[in-house]
Amino acid sequence: MSLSLLVTGGAGYIGTHTLVELIAAGFRPVVFDNLSNSSRQSLDRVARITGVAVPFVEGDLRTPGAVAAVLAAWARAGDPIQAVLHLAGCKAVGESVADPLKYYDNNVIGTQHLLHAMRDHGIKRLVFSSSATVYGVPQHLPLREDHPMVPNNPYGRTKAMVEDMLADLCAADPEFGAVTLRYFNPIGAHASGLIGENPADTPNNLFPYITQVAVGRRAKLSVFGDDYDTVDGTGVRDYLHVTDLARGHVAAANYVHAQPGFTAINLGTGQGTSVLELIAAFESSTGVAIPWLGSPRRAGDVAASFADSTKAQALLGWSAERSVADMCRDGWHWQQGNPQGYDTVATPRAREDVAVAAI
Ligand code: NAD
Ligand code: UD1
Repeated sequence: MSLSLLVTGGAGYIGTHTLVELIAAGFRPVVFDNLSNSSRQSLDRVARITGVAVPFVEGDLRTPGAVAAVLAAWARAGDPIQAVLHLAGCKAVGESVADPLKYYDNNVIGTQHLLHAMRDHGIKRLVFSSSATVYGVPQHLPLREDHPMVPNNPYGRTKAMVEDMLADLCAADPEFGAVTLRYFNPIGAHASGLIGENPADTPNNLFPYITQVAVGRRAKLSVFGDDYDTVDGTGVRDYLHVTDLARGHVAAANYVHAQPGFTAINLGTGQGTSVLELIAAFESSTGVAIPWLGSPRRAGDVAASFADSTKAQALLGWSAERSVADMCRDGWHWQQGNPQGYDTVATPRAREDVAVAAI
């Protein structure tokens, strides 16, 4: 499908992988990003993979009129934006507890600006990056979309608020279509090794911490908690390959194009993996040992979280294809070729068995 799509947050981790899959599917994405947690190099790498220089507008959703100006410019050029994939936002749970206003401003008010701009330009299709964190402490597993939303931190509450806002909009306007994708734990990197996760500071999340230990940037991993009621006492999560997640956005863009109304969809594999199982999978996929140390539980963590992903299969025809071993191999390939993320000086080479555009 050759629709023009605005991708907010398109320079980030999930955004860049989504651009690659959108382009492969024939969409024409335009990126709007303030580069607060990303860099231009990520988009240069997308161009190396796809052969397409994605139009990029540097701007902030919170700036009044900024996103509206982009929609107006594309409309004037006779190539109106037809739908928005809204990935931009802040995502660190701990930071959201320490500085909640930053999260309400960026994730909620920023989204409101976007929705006003869309309304002013008659754009009625949106795919939103939500999170499994909206469920809070699971009342049952696997988590189905009808599980109550009881987020237990400000970040999660901003996601739930936006979901409520979108549901209200769809109820008020039967022509409005919104798909909210509740991601479980995306990890790994594009198979080329040219794009991947690039945390600005010490990683909060498990997988980028593991790869930074593997590459020698950090001495040891702390394993938070060993007395959960799980297979080995450590926390269990539903890790999914970021390329599978990106494919989910393509499926959601196609779905929302055809289908008005509000739809919430989990994107996960349905499989739980413990911290120790992920370490073991990484070591066996890469041959690199990960020294680790038992530490107390992290405040706010749940014992286990994994998706019921049948709705994604039924509505989007989507299911995850890549294994935990694939996630480990590809995440390590990215980290090894880019030990300092996009700040790495030497230009990394793509894996030889993965086709990339020669530009
Ligand atoms: P990321 O930080 O790599 O990407 C987010 C992008 O949004 C960045 O490029 C950043 O510069 C941009 N951005 C932030 N605020 C902006 C603003 N006001 N205006 C314009 N651009 C802005 O994060 P990611 O991991 O790619 O996550 C993308 C989305 O998915 C986020 O909304 C996040 O909350 C959500 N999400 C991520 C995960 C995860 O594990 N990575 C899990 C669940 C949900
Ligand atoms: C975190 C966020 C969640 C967000 C999700 C996806 C918190 C409390 N929750 O969840 O809102 O949607 O990321 O990005 O931050 N672990 C270690 N050592 C580490 C890091 C993590 O043992 O250095 C453990 C954790 O205790 C957990 C598992 O690894 O059991 C996964 O942690 P993480 O990658 O941070 O993801 P979530 O906890 O699912």
